[in-house]
Amino acid sequence: MLDLLIQNATLPDGRRQMSVAVREGKIVEVAAGLIAAAQDTVDAQGFLLSPPFVDAHFHMDATLSYGLPRVNQSGTLLEGIALWGELKPLLTQEALMERALTYCDWAVAKGLLAIRSHVDTSDPSLLAVDALLAVKKQVAPYIDLQLVAFPQDGVLRSPGGLENLKRALDKGVDVVGGIPHFERTMSDGALSVKLLCELAAQRGLLVDMHCDESDDPLSRHVETLAFETQRLGLQGRATGSHLTSMHSMDNYYVSKLIPLMMEAQLQVVSNPLVNITLQGRHDTYPKRRGMTRVPELLAAGINVAFGHDDVMDPWYSLGSGDMLEVAHMGLHVAQMTSQAAMRQCFDAVTTSAAKVMHLKGYGLEVGCDASFVLLQARDPVEAIRLRANRLKVWKKGTLLAETVEVVAKLHVQGRPEAVQFVSNREN
Ligand code: FE2
Repeated sequence: MLDLLIQNATLPDGRRQMSVAVREGKIVEVAAGLIAAAQDTVDAQGFLLSPPFVDAHFHMDATLSYGLPRVNQSGTLLEGIALWGELKPLLTQEALMERALTYCDWAVAKGLLAIRSHVDTSDPSLLAVDALLAVKKQVAPYIDLQLVAFPQDGVLRSPGGLENLKRALDKGVDVVGGIPHFERTMSDGALSVKLLCELAAQRGLLVDMHCDESDDPLSRHVETLAFETQRLGLQGRATGSHLTSMHSMDNYYVSKLIPLMMEAQLQVVSNPLVNITLQGRHDTYPKRRGMTRVPELLAAGINVAFGHDDVMDPWYSLGSGDMLEVAHMGLHVAQMTSQAAMRQCFDAVTTSAAKVMHLKGYGLEVGCDASFVLLQARDPVEAIRLRANRLKVWKKGTLLAETVEVVAKLHVQGRPEAVQFVSNREN
């Protein structure tokens, strides 16, 4: 007897009328038209069944704080960092946890079941670290929350920065972060990358740095990150987040840089919603988009994920935990409009992001966790087009969230009464 049998689903690889069988939280069979006894049988009606969404880059300690203590007037990254500095002394563990838990509720409803969140380690109290470690424990049954020790004020620039970061790791934070472009000088930035990569190598941890989140084409810390990654044998274990300066770099230099990144098996996270709003703010016209070179990195064989980065915080006033909105923006900003490229944008918020996080048991193969999202869409491209409704969300075979099918009721004479926005069903 199965615990759950989902029938008549379309899978992201295009297979239709597929059944997925679940026992004890794991996928035990994936086959066309499977009929078997199950505690619970769900007719997917030909809709898309995907592994859950994954956000490879987020700031859960700041989320839902929009307007506290004031809004970001200039809309720039630097005012956002200053504003976060004004908010930090006012934070309480209770309020921070409450906001983070509310965001996790939104995430579950949106089928977002794995999040890598940076957590600011600059404050010696490590209040945000303690709060997010408690949240991580609380949400563990339904969200994989991975934490990155992030020295927002600069690991060398802020007093005690490195010590505080190490203490955060001692407390159980998973990944070593950094922000080399925010250190005082280029050489301090490079030194911070070296120190932090050495720390990760010593402790056997992954690395994920905010790197070159700047429009300055000479912000080249990604080169040092690639170098230290290969020097220390961290291949495949380090991620460069943002890399927006690559947008503005000289093409010749990039033709040298990308092979170095490839050699280090560096992973990349781009944050389209936030990059398109924060970058190019010092430009008049033409205005740079500022997002890193996603199609070129993918063409070189580098794994690229998209992150949400911020939701309603000092840097970004919008968002709802919808990774399809992130993919939609990434597709537009990078002009990834071919069928294959649009599919890559879906991967960037699912499988590619899972790879950045080194998630285990992720996917739709036999033996993987039975964690899924059923989308009111026929395929991944349509899911992005519609930012599709999440009909059902399961974690390890347990139903976590449902949203009713969206159907508009028309009152137009001679026209159908019910309108969905999905393409014609074949089933
Ligand atoms: Fe970030």
